[in-house]
Amino acid sequence: MQIQPITPHMGAEISGVDVAHLSDNEFARIQQAFLDHQVLVFRDQDIDRDGHKAFGRRFGELHIHPSKKQLDTRSDPEIFAIRTTPESAWTNGEAWHSDVSCEAVPPLGSMLYVRELPGASGGDTLFANMYEVFATLSEPLRRWLRGLDAVHDGLKDLASYNIKLKPGQTYPHAVHPVVIRHPQTGREVLFVNRSFTDRIVGLPRVESDALLEMLWRHGEDNPRFHCRVKWAPGSIVFWDNRCTWHHAVWDYFPNTRYAERVTIQGTVAPARAEAAA
Ligand code: SIN
Repeated sequence: MQIQPITPHMGAEISGVDVAHLSDNEFARIQQAFLDHQVLVFRDQDIDRDGHKAFGRRFGELHIHPSKKQLDTRSDPEIFAIRTTPESAWTNGEAWHSDVSCEAVPPLGSMLYVRELPGASGGDTLFANMYEVFATLSEPLRRWLRGLDAVHDGLKDLASYNIKLKPGQTYPHAVHPVVIRHPQTGREVLFVNRSFTDRIVGLPRVESDALLEMLWRHGEDNPRFHCRVKWAPGSIVFWDNRCTWHHAVWDYFPNTRYAERVTIQGTVAPARAEAAA
């Protein structure tokens, strides 16, 4: 098994391994690589839905997306399908975000398998390293952010897709510290994102919006924090949802892209980083 970093800051390509038949040693190396690189790209994998779910279960219980609980109760609850066609008005995830941070315990990570590529190119996924995004802010700002909390509201994300709840339906919202400590690495992470974070607790709306916009710009504008994954047949990408943002690139209209995502449930609520380690 080879582990080839994509950039010095994040991402690694894993080759020479079959995710359906991992030895204990390979699995242990993958677990460490996940913590070291945040985004793992497995090439040339041939797995069906059950294989995809089985690979996800190696890392924890599978997460059920909140939309599967009330908005779409008929499809497989453990598979989040992302189909973008010439008729689509939007594609899922075309903004920098972490998955469903509006939940009290957001997911540990997600595994995406693109089953239908949009052509010879296009439909890449971008990732951002939120350890680095936080670490590169000034110390006075980092000190202030460590004491703040933010509201993450699933309705904000739904509104970006023009989806409205029907009477009686609900969608999660949660308050999380703005700066958390990663439960496995112990490193500090900026844990807010454009799609789900609605406001900073205790700040007037105008100050909250300005602060959040500055944080989005800091994380989004500097390619040094990013890596870009180009999909190929048989690629599976596994990202750590606790310390990354991702962004789907819809540059392939009018072609179709179809992907399936399996998400792994988080185990602990995001915990405040009280002070620098
Ligand atoms: C997502 O999980 O937000 C979608 C990512 C992608 O389709 O590239």
